[in-house]
Amino acid sequence: MNGGARTVGRWWRPRSLRTQLLLWLITLHLGAAVLTAWFSFVAYGNLVHNALDDQMRLVAESYAGSAPQKLPQPMDGEAAFSRGAFIVQIWSADGRTLRATSWPVLSVPLQDTPGFSDVNTGAHAGSAWRVFTAEAGTRADQPRVQVLQNEDYRRRRALRRALLEGLPITLLLPLALLILWVIVSAASRSLRAVARDVASQDERSPTQLSLARVPDEIAPLVSAFNNLLSRVRSAFATQRRFVQDAAHELRTPMAAIGLQIENLRAHVPAGEATERFNQLEAGVTRAQHLIEQLLHLSRQDAPQGGDARERVDIEVLLRESVSQLMVLADARRVDIGFEGPDRTTAVVFAPAAELRSVFDNLIDNALRYAPEGGVVDVKLHTFEGHAVVDVLDNGPGIPQAAIGRVFDRFFRVPGSAAGGSGLGLAIARTAAQRHGMRIELCNRGDGPGLMARVHLPSVPT
Ligand SMILES: Nc1ncnc2c1ncn2[C@@H]1O[C@H](COP(=O)(O)OP(=O)(O)OP(=O)(O)O)[C@@H](O)[C@H]1O
Ligand SMILES: [Mg+2]
Repeated sequence: MNGGARTVGRWWRPRSLRTQLLLWLITLHLGAAVLTAWFSFVAYGNLVHNALDDQMRLVAESYAGSAPQKLPQPMDGEAAFSRGAFIVQIWSADGRTLRATSWPVLSVPLQDTPGFSDVNTGAHAGSAWRVFTAEAGTRADQPRVQVLQNEDYRRRRALRRALLEGLPITLLLPLALLILWVIVSAASRSLRAVARDVASQDERSPTQLSLARVPDEIAPLVSAFNNLLSRVRSAFATQRRFVQDAAHELRTPMAAIGLQIENLRAHVPAGEATERFNQLEAGVTRAQHLIEQLLHLSRQDAPQGGDARERVDIEVLLRESVSQLMVLADARRVDIGFEGPDRTTAVVFAPAAELRSVFDNLIDNALRYAPEGGVVDVKLHTFEGHAVVDVLDNGPGIPQAAIGRVFDRFFRVPGSAAGGSGLGLAIARTAAQRHGMRIELCNRGDGPGLMARVHLPSVPT
């Protein structure tokens, strides 16, 4: 697994579905607009061309058949180029002399073959002309007529028409993009809601994700995920039940063995047997402790319907913890002290029992791993603007390499004092995290020993 690292997509295949859709839609629309414009340029080009040709013929015929001879209206270049006005030329019957023309600047001779032709008067823009030369008349003196129109004007007209055809599609593009944006946004909103649902799951009792607002396309994924969740839930439950049952079943016989050992103590002869007996007793005590920790752990893993959160004054809680662990401190002749804050009150909203398991385990460790006759300090104070609880001892501390692993279940630093099960810190950390707290362990800089610091949540959780 690559830990959720996301690769960046190529520009034409971005990771975001929305960008991908938008990109393709824009390309598709622009392509359609260009194609439509091109098709209509070809189709309308012909249409415009034929229509204008017909007009040219009609104009020529109206001049050729007029008696007395109609003379063309004079015009300028602007009319010829911009408005595509027809230029009419009246030639003598033999076609040699130009008798009249609407625009004398244009010199195009009378074409030999009657009908339509294309003439170029130069290589510059606007020098191409469409020409219609009327047939010679039946009378010998009947003048010849030729009509011309600028070719560029005709092309421009066809082009304008074609562009107008492509315009609706181009105008539709922003609208289509907007609709797409709205649809994709709605879909990703529902996906985000599913993600939020997943993120807010209690890992102890994952619940089914709602399919209510999930789009059909994504529903199979969510259903499959729900399926997985229910399997995970039942696997968790089986495992938890097993640990709980096993620990529970072991508890009674272990307690009976403990009692028997206590009863036997009076009958053990002095010498090597006492030594062995003591080892046996320590072993049983250790096993009993391990069973208790396992029970604690499995209870912690169990789903907690409506955690009984309450307003807990941390100072009061710590004083209780210290006084309850005083038996252990006395047994090990450890001097344990508590220092509370001057004025402020640190409050956490959480089940008191869970908070107790955090501090009990840390203080228990400090008392166990401090040397006989050592010193343990529990301090509640403010650090960098938020409340912290420090538990300090003057024991061996934890080797730097092992400090990251001591929170693992069953991990014990080799050579540690006997009696522990390696579960205390795992229990403490789970409870702390659940209620917005953080445990930090570091070896003290001011001498031997460990400092366990609990950062309390800065706002009530
Ligand atoms: N204050 C401390 N000083 C030195 N080592 C410590 C201290 N606290 C924890 N450790 C080391 O970290 C290990 C893990 O601690 P943890 O509390 O999880 O388990 P444990 O104390 O061995 O057993 P349990 O707490 O279940 O009785 C301990 O075994 C010990 O090696
Ligand atoms: Mg411990």
